[in-house]
Amino acid sequence: MTTPGVRPTLWVLHGPNLDRLGRREPEVYGTATLADVNAACMAVAAEHGCDLVARQSAHEGELIDWIHEAADAGAIGMAINPGGYTHTSVALRDAIASVAPLPVVEVHLSNVHAREAFRHVTLTGAVCSGTIAGLGVEGYRAALRFLASRSG
Ligand code: DQA
Repeated sequence: MTTPGVRPTLWVLHGPNLDRLGRREPEVYGTATLADVNAACMAVAAEHGCDLVARQSAHEGELIDWIHEAADAGAIGMAINPGGYTHTSVALRDAIASVAPLPVVEVHLSNVHAREAFRHVTLTGAVCSGTIAGLGVEGYRAALRFLASRSG
């Protein structure tokens, strides 16, 4: 929900190992750095008159605390790339479910469905509004555009 006179805020959370983008398996994840991804997110947020909070952590509990914080602070939507926690974390899934109806879009740079079988399962995706995989940085842009436009 938006309040007149208050700029709506979008959040983007990045999970473990995403701080190494640009030099981490570039053949899989591309050459954009995390700073590049955040700059792209910032540009989309600005285009829609929104502020953006972007954070990265390797720590499951910290990501969970930030999901709660975003909801309590009145975020209008969140894009999250949970990294490897996507495939393992019941706690992260429960955190996303706990902040409903905050819309959350899961983003993966790579097409997880075309990779190892263990990446085909997403525990977190089932409680998100939607999932985007395989579009690289464009996936974050699409997620934020969706989140910004639906809050109108
Ligand atoms: C990832 C895919 C995950 O399987 C992997 O563990 C990551 C990155 C992606 O953006 O493609 O860390 O979420």
